Formats: sequence, C-alpha cells, structure tokens
Amino acid sequence: MPDVFQPDTSFADGKILKSITDGVGVITFNNPDKRNAMSLEMWEGFGRALTELRDDDAVRVVILRGAGGKAFVSGADISQFEKTRHNAAASEEYAKRSAAERALLADYPKPTIACIQGFCLGGGMQVAMLADIRIASHDSQFGIPAAKLGIAYGFDGLRNLVSLVGPSWARLLMYTGMRIDAVEALRIGLVERVIPEGELWGETMAIAVAISENAPLAIKAAKITIAQVLKDESRRDMDAVRTIGTACMDSEDFREGRQAFMEKRKPQFRGR
Ligand code: COA
Repeated sequence: MPDVFQPDTSFADGKILKSITDGVGVITFNNPDKRNAMSLEMWEGFGRALTELRDDDAVRVVILRGAGGKAFVSGADISQFEKTRHNAAASEEYAKRSAAERALLADYPKPTIACIQGFCLGGGMQVAMLADIRIASHDSQFGIPAAKLGIAYGFDGLRNLVSLVGPSWARLLMYTGMRIDAVEALRIGLVERVIPEGELWGETMAIAVAISENAPLAIKAAKITIAQVLKDESRRDMDAVRTIGTACMDSEDFREGRQAFMEKRKPQFRGR
C-alpha cells in the first residue's frame, strides 16, 4: 500500500487525508503513531472528507484506508475517554458527536470499500462494517475489545456485526474481546477477500476502478435495493427501490450499455 499518498485536502490537522485518482476517492486515517485511533476531531474531518467526495461528480467510488501499514483504525482514541466518555451521559454526548458521520457513511450514495491492513478494532470495525465491501491483507487482525474496556458497543455496530457474521460469532467476539486473523475473518464473512500485503492496494484499486467504469445508476440501484433488503419489512422504502429502478431502466446509460454490447466495444457510462 503506498504510504506517502498525495492528498488533495487534509482535515483534523492532517490526520484525515482525502485524494482523488481516476474517479476513485480515497480517505486515509492518518494517525499512525496511535495506530490510527479515531479522535472526535478525526470523526469530524472524516465526515467532511466524505461529504466532499459525495458531492464531487467525478468520484464514483470511495476507498477508506489507514496510514502506516500497521492499522486500519485501532478504535476510538482511548486517551480522550477520561474527559469525553467517562460515564453514561458523557458517552451519549460522545456518541452524538460522531453519529452524523456514521450516518453519512451508512447512507452513503456511492459505493465504499474498506481497505484493511493491520489492526481493525472497536470503532475501526464499526467504520469497516459500514463500508459496502471489506478487502483485507493477510496480516490484518479484527476485534471488538469493548468488554476488555467496559464499554457497551452500540446497537448499529452490533446490528452490522450480526448481519455479517451471525449472532453466535458476534457473541463470541463480544464476550471474549478476542482478536481474529484475516483467514478467520474471511471464513466467517467479516471480510470479502484476503490479499497478500504487497498486493492489497493494487487489488483494492482494481476493484474500485472496475466499479467506477460500470454504470453508476445500476450500482446505485443495487446499493439502495440491498439496503432495503436488510431492513425490517415494515421499515422498507419500496418507493425508493422503484424510483431508482425506473431511473436506471430509462437512463441513457442503459441505452449505451446495450449498444456497446452489440457493437462489441467498451461502454462509456455517464451516470444518467
Ligand atoms: N487509543 C489511543 N491510543 C492508542 C490506541 C487507541 N485505541 N491504540 C493504540 N494506541 C497508541 C498506544 O497507546 C501507543 O501509544 P504510545 O506509543 O504513546 O505508548 C501507540 O498507539 C502504539 O500502540 P502499541 O500498543 O504500542 O502498539 P502495538 O502494535 O503493540 O499494539 C494495538 C497495537 C492496536 C493492538 C494496541 O495498541 C491496542 O490494543 N490498542 C487499543 C485497541 C482498543 O482497545 N480499541 C478499542 C477502543 S474502543
């Protein structure tokens, strides 16, 4: 994974970096001295980077990664806890301050990929699980050590964990606070692919570029529909599914897609 990344913009005193290459937006958690532990300022910066990439029409997919080669994100910055998360009331306030950013990622309109090398723990798992796809290196490790710290992990994080790995693995991980390696993470469905360290970035970019070359509305339709599949039936927004389905099937891109197939050429999609 390239460590020195040319960021277009940085936030949170350089601890969140944002760059764009070939239609692929990249956000780097850049606090390697603390294994990319997330401070509240980093959450805010992360939200700003997500918003800018969301609003940039040139960006079709976003990769999240950690700097330094040792961690994706090692969780919330525990050094802030004594001041900002020392009891239930402070904890609620703390959660509120990062809630908007988590919601932004949960409802992100573009595909997101977590590119994970090294430790992915606690709040880092929350970020990774909110991404659409997780690609990890062989040397990555995963865990939610909430029980080792005495923290109640929130509903949304656990819902995502249960939906990925099932309730029994969720219980094993939560009760023990154990760390698992990439092979186990792959086996239980926590990550989609495991790649040797030296190839992680190239493979992740290849997936991102493949996504960025496909029809944006078709991807949006898949993203919206899968999100509704995951909701309780009573809370599903089937109008959203129909609306994006209609937009997709009436789109210039669908015409381009079928013409390009017939003419044996690569389609040029424009997202409309
Ligand atoms: N918050 C604050 N600081 C953290 C941190 C976190 N979540 N994770 C790591 N750090 C800091 C360490 O305190 C250490 O700081 P120091 O150099 O000033 O002593 C530095 O990052 C390097 O960590 P270290 O433990 O020496 O590195 P390691 O490679 O041996 O282990 C971890 C890395 C991530 C396994 C280990 O630091 C750890 O368990 N961190 C806590 C993870 C956690 O509980 N996350 C959930 C929070 S809700």
